[in-house]
Amino acid sequence: MIQDRSDLNQGELNMLIKRLYSVSAVKPTYRDKGSLSIKVFLCSLVVVGLLQTFPMAYAGQAETAQDLTTLLRSARAVTVNKKTIGDPTLINVKKFIKKTKKNYLRSSGKKLDKSNVMLGQLLEAIKQVVTEAQSGKYADKWTKGDYANKFLPARFARQTGLAFEKITDGKGIIKLTTSDDLLVNLANKADEWENKVIETMFLKPNWERNKVFSEKTSTGYRLILPEYYKSGCMACHGGDQGKKIHSKPISGNIGDFGGAISVILK
Ligand code: HEC
Repeated sequence: MIQDRSDLNQGELNMLIKRLYSVSAVKPTYRDKGSLSIKVFLCSLVVVGLLQTFPMAYAGQAETAQDLTTLLRSARAVTVNKKTIGDPTLINVKKFIKKTKKNYLRSSGKKLDKSNVMLGQLLEAIKQVVTEAQSGKYADKWTKGDYANKFLPARFARQTGLAFEKITDGKGIIKLTTSDDLLVNLANKADEWENKVIETMFLKPNWERNKVFSEKTSTGYRLILPEYYKSGCMACHGGDQGKKIHSKPISGNIGDFGGAISVILK
C-alpha cells in the first residue's frame, strides 16, 4: 500500500545481501581461495557503501512517519464530539489520551511504541493541546466566522502540529492540508511538494484509495496520506456550506478527496 522509494532501496539492499551470502555459501572449489575472499571482501565493501547511502534509520523513518499519521488521526477522532467541539473545557484529558491510545491500537494493530522518540513527542503535543483547550486557553482564538469558538478536529490537528514542531525543535512536522480549491484556513495551504502530490496523484481518479506517497527530499523524508469526505464532514464541507467555506465554490461529496496529512522528518 505504501509507495515508498525507501522500500525499493531496501529491496535492492536485501538482494545484495542475499547475493553476498550466496557468494560466501559457495564451496571454495577453486584452488585459489584468495580470489574468493577478495570477492567476498569487495562485495562487503559494496554492502557497507550501500548501508551508508541508505542507512537503516531511513527504513525506520517510513514507519515512524506512518505511525505519526495514525496517532494524529487517533487523537483527532476523539475530538469528533459535539459537546467538546462546542465547549472544550468539558474535555477530560486523561480519558482523551486513553481513548487516543485505544484508537491507535485498533487502527495500527500495535501498542504505541514508547521507545520511539517522535511518537512520544507527538503524544506530548496532543496532551499539551487538549490540556490547553480544557483550561480555556483557546477561548479567544477562533472568534470569527460560522465556526467561531468551536474546537474543530482540524483546529486540534493544526495546534497539535505546531506544538509537535516546537517540541521536536523543527525535526518533525505534521500538518493537515488540502488542495488549494478546498482550502478553508489559508494557514493550512499546501506547500509546493504537497500541492504537486495532491494535484497529480491524489486527485487523479486512478490513484489507489488511501495509498500514501513518500519520498526522500532535500527538506527531509516526506510522507503524505490522502483522506476522503465521509457523511460526518458534509454539514460543513458539502452542499452550499462547502461552497461557502472552501476557497473555490466547490461542495465536497462523500468519498471525494478531502485533505491530507503531511509529515516531514528531518
Ligand atoms: C463543523 C464543521 C466541519 C466539519 C464537520 C468538518 N470540517 Fe473540515 N474544516 C472545517 C473548518 C471551519 C476548517 C478550517 C479550520 C480552521 O479554522 O483552521 C476545516 C479544515 C479542514 C481541513 C484542513 C485544511 C483547510 O482547509 O484548512 C481538512 C483537510 C478538513 N477540514 C477535512 C475535513 C474532513 C475530511 C471532515 C470529515 C471527516 C471534516 N473536515 C469535517 C469545518 C468542518
